[in-house]
Amino acid sequence: MADPGILAVIGAQWGDEGKGKIVDLLAARVDGVARFSGGHNAGHTVRIGELKYALHLIPSGIIHPGARCFLGPGLVIDPGALLREMEGLQEQGIEFGSRMVISSRAALILPTHQGLDHAREAARGKSKIGTTGRGIGPAYEDVASRRGLRAWMLTRPESLQEEAEKLMRAHNEELARLYGADPFVIDEAVGRLLRAAEKLGPFVHEVGSEIRGLLNSGGKLLLEGAQGVLLDPIWGTYPFVTSSSCLPAAGAATLGIPGHRIGPVLGVMKAYTTRVGAGPFPTEDFGPEGEELAKRGAEFGTTTGRPRRCGWFDAVAARHAVEVAGIDAIALTKIDVLDSFDEIRIAVDYEDERGRRIGSLPADTAMLEHLKPCYETMPGWKNPTESLRDPADLDPAARAYISRLEELLGVPVALLSTGPRRAETMVLGQSAVAARLRELLDQGPDQVY
Ligand code: IMP
Repeated sequence: MADPGILAVIGAQWGDEGKGKIVDLLAARVDGVARFSGGHNAGHTVRIGELKYALHLIPSGIIHPGARCFLGPGLVIDPGALLREMEGLQEQGIEFGSRMVISSRAALILPTHQGLDHAREAARGKSKIGTTGRGIGPAYEDVASRRGLRAWMLTRPESLQEEAEKLMRAHNEELARLYGADPFVIDEAVGRLLRAAEKLGPFVHEVGSEIRGLLNSGGKLLLEGAQGVLLDPIWGTYPFVTSSSCLPAAGAATLGIPGHRIGPVLGVMKAYTTRVGAGPFPTEDFGPEGEELAKRGAEFGTTTGRPRRCGWFDAVAARHAVEVAGIDAIALTKIDVLDSFDEIRIAVDYEDERGRRIGSLPADTAMLEHLKPCYETMPGWKNPTESLRDPADLDPAARAYISRLEELLGVPVALLSTGPRRAETMVLGQSAVAARLRELLDQGPDQVY
């Protein structure tokens, strides 16, 4: 049976859907938040009043003093990047105490992983993936090839030094032989790693047993996904994807929770679509409407600062995400970005060069590049949704847009975000997920947040 204590929050487009705000919002009344995939390729900003918190690896639950934050075994962790993130948060008054737990089974990213990431991208030339350059892919390759470093080594300096030197020598050789790149100075890099290990070691523990203990004693847990389903290495637009699973089942598999215990899945989607990096994006809009979405939505990556590509909501890709990830309800974000448009479009199908309708996301990504979206047009509302907190205040045209998305996706929109701040949010409808969200937000059925 699904565990009543678990709620999974995952990205359901190409990442950057606004998961950080949603997890922060829901974390006030949970006992733990567990991030289950990716590394510091992810990034989001949580805004509370005038304060801004930049997060990459650490679950947004850290901002709530009551939540334990787990960096799960499925993560790849750059110790230097994690320390910098911790220091930044500590400077803003966030207390870590023993609230953050790094899984002893998580993998470590070394500077040479980053070197390999850059070298491989450069070697791909025009077909580069547009990675974040954080060493994510090469670190996961080392996990799969069974030569990677794991976080327990942060507590055992001799093992860390020996294994890091060995792996970095192998990476240096590869960098020189395959890419003609300069080698990394191993002594310096290992010195930095050992200094980071001294600070991080006390946070390293076995996460699985602690999480099972938390659930068995009736505790509440949020599973925090990274990136989005369309960046999943199996179900996304391969090879223009990341290197770890973005599906909620990966939360169970990596955190050591039986799969059948995973609770409802909340898929976070923007009211339009964005993507960073390369790869097919059927609804990408190169004209003034795409520019308007980018401008109003401030679409720049939190991690790399790269401008995001923008376009209308792609219901074909979104339905694919709902189906493969088992999404029960949607958290729809940034609806206010659409406030200024006379008309709003939704891609409801794709069409190939011969005019044949293709109602799903093909496995052949090159084929996707050549498909054209078929749009449905709806009237805009031109009446601000920005900062609204009460469903009764939503313009009928905005309601109609949300209802149409629900129809196309086959699941309800249970949460609507109307701005970056906590209060700029409302729970919609009477679905089971909406009831769970109200519980977590401590709302009565008719109260607004
Ligand atoms: P990598 O994860 O750095 O290897 O990058 C692979 C692809 O995933 C690139 O297109 C990145 O732009 C994209 N990507 C990785 N992390 C994120 C994220 O958090 N948000 C959006 N895109 C991401």
